[in-house]
Amino acid sequence: MRILSPLLAALALILLAAWVLGGPAIESRGAHPYDAFEKPAACRACHRDFYRQWRQSMMSQAYTHHWDEIEYWDLAVPHAEKDPSFKEAQEGCNGCHAPLAWLAGDVPPPRPAAGSRANESVSCDLCHTVTGFAGDTPFNFNWVSSPGRVKYGPKPGVESPHHDTQRSDFLSSAEFCGTCHNEMSPFGAWVKSTQLEWAEGPYAAEGVRCQDCHAPRAWGRSASMGEEAWVAQHLFHGAHDDGKLAGAVEIRIHPDEREVPYDGVVMLTAQLFNAKAGHRIPTGSVEDRIVWLHVTATDAAGKTWHLPVDPKGFDGEDYTIAADVLAYQDLAVPLGRPDFPGVQRDGEPVGDRIYRKAYLDPEGRMTMMQWNTQSFGVDYRLGPRETVLETFTWDMPDDIAVGRVTVAASLNYRKLVKPVADLLEVPDDEEELIVINRAETWFEVYD
Ligand code: HEC
Ligand code: HEC
Ligand code: HEC
Ligand code: HEC
Ligand code: HEC
Repeated sequence: MRILSPLLAALALILLAAWVLGGPAIESRGAHPYDAFEKPAACRACHRDFYRQWRQSMMSQAYTHHWDEIEYWDLAVPHAEKDPSFKEAQEGCNGCHAPLAWLAGDVPPPRPAAGSRANESVSCDLCHTVTGFAGDTPFNFNWVSSPGRVKYGPKPGVESPHHDTQRSDFLSSAEFCGTCHNEMSPFGAWVKSTQLEWAEGPYAAEGVRCQDCHAPRAWGRSASMGEEAWVAQHLFHGAHDDGKLAGAVEIRIHPDEREVPYDGVVMLTAQLFNAKAGHRIPTGSVEDRIVWLHVTATDAAGKTWHLPVDPKGFDGEDYTIAADVLAYQDLAVPLGRPDFPGVQRDGEPVGDRIYRKAYLDPEGRMTMMQWNTQSFGVDYRLGPRETVLETFTWDMPDDIAVGRVTVAASLNYRKLVKPVADLLEVPDDEEELIVINRAETWFEVYD
């Protein structure tokens, strides 16, 4: 016994390490061959409309989408080759992006161009044969998969000629989504926490689930020969849908005085209200996203000035004000460029307020590789139904024209920070500037 217990202790440590590093899902690797799952094309025959909706969503492209292919093959794979401590994290990408390949033990899968079944990404049959999750927190693909004739759905007693059906409360829960929408890095940092953010916010308390906003119910049929009912639409629209982003945050802006002398100081206050999202904005791939508030003033003569935000003085605030600084130096390793100096951290007008969570690598530098994230510099995002105030104190320039000054505020969004997108040659749609919302106000300058 004396000899065994240190052995057992060591084993327990190894198991704990495996759990912390890889999550409790590691053992699902290789559990089911590709053949255990039906192809989405098989569901299309009867669930035609759902198939079309799902094809248009990002979850049907989680393995094939250009930026995913670039990040996996040009960053994660070479990074793990150079530093084997990232091998498990690199293989784990597939647990969420190519779950059928993960379950088949086909890791890494063939590249998307090979047209393998990994390309099915997050497929109909993957979701509809999940029965629960392992452990007590959903994260790192710890869903439990039981492929077969039974398809789990939201309704009891539904009949189909092709398969059996069974009602599952789990499928209809936010925890189901959380199995892939919460992610812990190998350093134990929550690099994705959409379900956790939701759980501590007002929507969870009211019973408004992910599905209610991302798979809203409409009257119709879920299968061509099915009964009419309220059916969950399969849009799963998120940040890749401009309409979903549109108006997600409301902005208002007003001056502290309506009439200001030409040599005076005016203070403008902007309010930002996260009116539409059940989690923080941005959420999910927060290491990639940039959301920023840009404010300008245009005088009666048509001359425009850019107004920088007033700092508030909180810890880590530097990360939240656009600056002319370099970041992402850790890309040196996967890119194989030891002297890589980094690229611009923000690429947006200096002085603009940024809503972000700063991901830091083990050396404390800002990173966009979530698997290389050890800690966070700051979390300055817009919580669900949260309102945030920003002020802009403007000592007006001498050459301002007398008359009306129009102030315009715009909350802008890019899915991927532009300097990184340019460096990695990611197609333009990923770095495209999307306006979430705008607001305007005015004041009069007198002599
Ligand atoms: C031959 C036609 C057919 C095919 C093929 C088919 N289904 Fe169905 N399915 C139906 C019908 C009909 C219903 C019942 C719809 C109703 O009455 O609301 C149904 C119901 C379901 C339900 C239950 C939904 C609920 O209301 O709880 C799920 C889940 C489901 N199908 C998933 C799938 C998946 C996944 C595939 C592909 C692997 C698939 N189906 C293939 C015909 C089909
Ligand atoms: C009250 C409605 C609502 C609820 C509830 C909700 N969302 Fe969202 N979600 C939105 C809106 C609006 C957006 C678009 C704004 C944005 O990107 O944050 C969004 C965006 C997203 C995005 C894209 C984020 C990005 O930047 O790429 C993901 C992923 C997402 N939601 C997943 C979830 C999950 C998972 C849950 C449940 C844990 C959930 N949502 C709950 C409304 C909601
Ligand atoms: C990301 C996981 C996911 C994927 C992928 C997915 N579904 Fe679903 N599906 C769900 C969830 C969750 C619900 C139940 C939503 C709720 O309870 O509000 C659902 C509901 C359904 C229903 C019943 C709708 C109703 O409200 O009666 C059918 C039928 C269905 N899905 C078929 C499909 C088919 C066919 C595909 C592929 C074309 C597919 N699903 C892809 C998660 C998924
Ligand atoms: C098997 C893992 C998995 C499950 C389960 C899952 N997702 Fe996803 N989801 C993903 C991945 C991976 C992506 C990223 C797709 C990509 O590469 O852009 C994604 C993307 C999304 C997006 C699109 C975000 C954008 O940027 O446009 C939304 C919305 C979303 N999921 C909602 C949900 C909801 C709601 C549920 C639960 C009903 C759910 N997901 C369950 C893996 C999953
Ligand atoms: C725990 C599940 C999970 C793991 C593990 C995971 N991802 Fe993701 N990934 C997601 C989800 C969910 C999203 C969508 C979030 C959103 O839309 O904001 C996503 C989004 C992305 C995106 C952004 C897609 C876009 O178009 O904006 C890239 C790129 C990506 N993942 C690559 C990877 C790589 C590379 C790895 C491995 C190092 C990895 N992911 C590991 C779940 C996961």
